[in-house]
Amino acid sequence: MRATQVRINTANLRHNLHCVAQAAPGCRTLAVIKANGYGHGLLRCAHALSAADAFAVASCGEAIALRNAGIEQPILLLEGFFAADELAAIVQRRLDIVVHHLSQIALLEKFSADHAIHVWLKIDSGMHRLGFLPAQVKAAWQRLRACSCVAPNIRLLTHLACADNPGSDATLQQLDCFDRVAAALPRSEQSIANSAALLAWPQSHRDWLRPGLMLYGASPFSFPGASDHPFDSALAQRQPSPLTQQLKPVMTFTSNVIAIKHLQKGDKIGYDGSWRCPEAMPVAIVAAGYGDGYPRHASAGTPVLLNGQRTALIGRVSMDMLCIDLRSQPGARLGDPVTLWGEGLPVEEVARHAGTIPYELLCGITSRVDVVECS
Ligand SMILES: Cc1ncc(COP(=O)(O)O)c(C=O)c1O
Repeated sequence: MRATQVRINTANLRHNLHCVAQAAPGCRTLAVIKANGYGHGLLRCAHALSAADAFAVASCGEAIALRNAGIEQPILLLEGFFAADELAAIVQRRLDIVVHHLSQIALLEKFSADHAIHVWLKIDSGMHRLGFLPAQVKAAWQRLRACSCVAPNIRLLTHLACADNPGSDATLQQLDCFDRVAAALPRSEQSIANSAALLAWPQSHRDWLRPGLMLYGASPFSFPGASDHPFDSALAQRQPSPLTQQLKPVMTFTSNVIAIKHLQKGDKIGYDGSWRCPEAMPVAIVAAGYGDGYPRHASAGTPVLLNGQRTALIGRVSMDMLCIDLRSQPGARLGDPVTLWGEGLPVEEVARHAGTIPYELLCGITSRVDVVECS
């Protein structure tokens, strides 16, 4: 058996949800479990996060899987629906929808249902991804309000583009835009904060929080190139915030040593031979590669834990294997355990070395990797 596996610690998932409640007491939580629970397992996350007030997913298929598994909390479709034929399932499964586009309103106007759909009207406050521009919001709200299939208490949400950058004023501008638009409508429930906003922008907390990444124990502030960022000093003050430090990793990605080599100074390692041994040295080959979800772009020097001690990736990552430097552990043996990220090695750190973000690494574990749940 190949030893490559991920361990999912559901007790840590519950702990992180508790951290959310501590950061924003009195708010309700829409736990974001889209993309297979950020790679941790959709149903596993929903069951472990049973204390969440509601769940948010990206597709009707994910929501139906949750309902079929007996999940009873409200479920919000963050992109709403894509075609008219989804509406019957939305009503039947009691799903809540984001409405972000006129085409969706046109379909709702033609639809009738025996019980009303709860709608979140999405305002584009500056991210310019989904949502109605400020000038369009009032008319969209009025048309929705007139739809017989839409529940009367239309809620409002927006998404922040730069909440992970505590030094940027883009978040204040977005909040101001959202508040001006909301002020022109009857008071309704609101949701703005993703993980970064929840941790860094208390004024964004409102009625409902929408945390994703922090539930899985990763900090949203460790974006790639953080150390080169113009707002790095502000980032340094905020990161890690006391609460960020309390988060516990949920996924631990592990494998083991399957070969050991003793190489000479100048020997090349891996595809294209771009990494050369600076001296005679032992090297270990580990059974994990990009075919498992380890990032191929991780650079030499990316930290790896061998027997719980830090060492470094060397050479190119292959599909099924990667190589690590054994100079600090010349006594390492075949079968010794390796942690690629998770407990003892933050996924944010590996992501930074690979020029990506923790979200991508967590979502990218492939189906051939065994998943073991612990609590
Ligand atoms: C609309 C929306 N809300 C909330 C989230 C959760 O964000 P995060 O994982 O950064 O907390 C996402 C994630 O992409 C999202 O798209």
